[in-house]
Amino acid sequence: MTRTRRNSIVFYRQSHQYLLINICILTDINPIQSITLILNHFNYRVGGNNKQRTNRARCGNTGVSAPGSVNVLSANPVRGQKTMLKLGIIGTGRLGSFHADKVAAHPEAELAGVVDPNDAARHSVAQKHGVRAFGSFDEMLPAVDAVIIASPTYLHYALGRACLQAGKHVLMEKPMCASLAEGRKLVELARQNGLVLQVGHVEEFNPAWTAAKKSLRNDLMIGEPLLIDAVRTSGYTFRSSDIGTVLDMMIHDIDLVISLVASEVFSVDAIGFHVIGGPQEDVAHARIRFDNGCAANLFSSRVADKAERRMRITTATATVSVDFGTRTTTCHRASEAVLQGKFAPNNVLPDSVPLLMPTFMQDAFSLQTETHEAVDALAAELDDFVLSIQTGKSPCVSGSRALTAVSVAETIVRSIVKRSAYGQRTRRAA
Ligand SMILES: NC(=O)c1ccc[n+]([C@@H]2O[C@H](COP(=O)([O-])OP(=O)(O)OC[C@H]3O[C@@H](n4cnc5c(N)ncnc54)[C@H](O)[C@@H]3O)[C@@H](O)[C@H]2O)c1
Repeated sequence: MTRTRRNSIVFYRQSHQYLLINICILTDINPIQSITLILNHFNYRVGGNNKQRTNRARCGNTGVSAPGSVNVLSANPVRGQKTMLKLGIIGTGRLGSFHADKVAAHPEAELAGVVDPNDAARHSVAQKHGVRAFGSFDEMLPAVDAVIIASPTYLHYALGRACLQAGKHVLMEKPMCASLAEGRKLVELARQNGLVLQVGHVEEFNPAWTAAKKSLRNDLMIGEPLLIDAVRTSGYTFRSSDIGTVLDMMIHDIDLVISLVASEVFSVDAIGFHVIGGPQEDVAHARIRFDNGCAANLFSSRVADKAERRMRITTATATVSVDFGTRTTTCHRASEAVLQGKFAPNNVLPDSVPLLMPTFMQDAFSLQTETHEAVDALAAELDDFVLSIQTGKSPCVSGSRALTAVSVAETIVRSIVKRSAYGQRTRRAA
């Protein structure tokens, strides 16, 4: 949906103060929905909860909408109302229990129940927060306005579909689902029912990434990404074994890269293999080429000797590096003199080289390193979910954005399977 018309609406309050609220009215929604949106917006800003909202997540604070995102208008009656949003968690394993903590602490959300077929998992989280534990999600649905799904990935589609069909907003853990076909159906279902479908690509809220993206988008001297290298590794966790490392780990970097590169994917080539016992790949390397010439090399392994989450983005004038673990951003860039060609080989006299050499890199390039304050990324992600439901804005990581990541991941896995089949054939022939 495109915002094509801006209306200014003046409200007169009993306190004799004028409030001017500029509300973007979406022209492709019907008049009743438009009025609901205006009233909801008014409630939210004026009559709503007065707790501090300064920490609101705004697409990693870059103020830039996620590509491919859509604005949704909820059919759910809770949207814009002053009541607390009732949230349920489906799957209270490792991630689900973290989500339960964040919901319980959120000023505008209430943890209304948790679901997990595993007795111990659901009871420990339910007892910790004093909420009801349900054995199956359909028993919990009438008690909630929205759900966070943190089950194993192979269940994402069926659970997501049932929740969206029941009129519940969904925050789905990543990957959104196991296949592009499933993802498309979820995105369409959310769109048809006017519900928020957000996906848990939580690195979007990492402050080091936010800062890097801001520099790359706002500092025109840095220029467009030409080459991206990402590394994401960990030891084996015995979780997410229903998917390989591409959907489990590399999907984070796929999502970030496609949110950064303003171009379509041109080609994908990948290799991968399993180490623990398969059939899913534990180690993968993918090379993605974009129409605009940018190339991304993504490496992920879940059987590595150490945990790393790093990305390096190279442009014609700078290298921006992000360490997601230490929340550090580094920008190494060429000086004006370099950009003006003063050090081009033909412009430097051979006799000057010994003088220039010892400090050339320090003199001709700048290096800026910033370590950012810790941010509770999962809480920021939840904040964005709540705000999207309340206001009708598109979540930073919408279902449609996540769909592109699933599409690219699926192509990578297909490339891995094709290559391994080819490898087996050539090994047998040898
Ligand atoms: N955003 C991130 O950075 C991140 C990190 C890790 C995992 N994840 C994702 O979170 C999800 C869960 O991963 P995890 O590491 O917490 O796994 P986990 O194995 O610790 O938890 C999964 C839980 O789902 C429960 N479950 C199984 N069937 C269910 C059903 N039908 N209904 C409800 N619950 C059911 C299991 O009993 C288990 O308690 C996965 O999709 C994974 O990819 C995201």
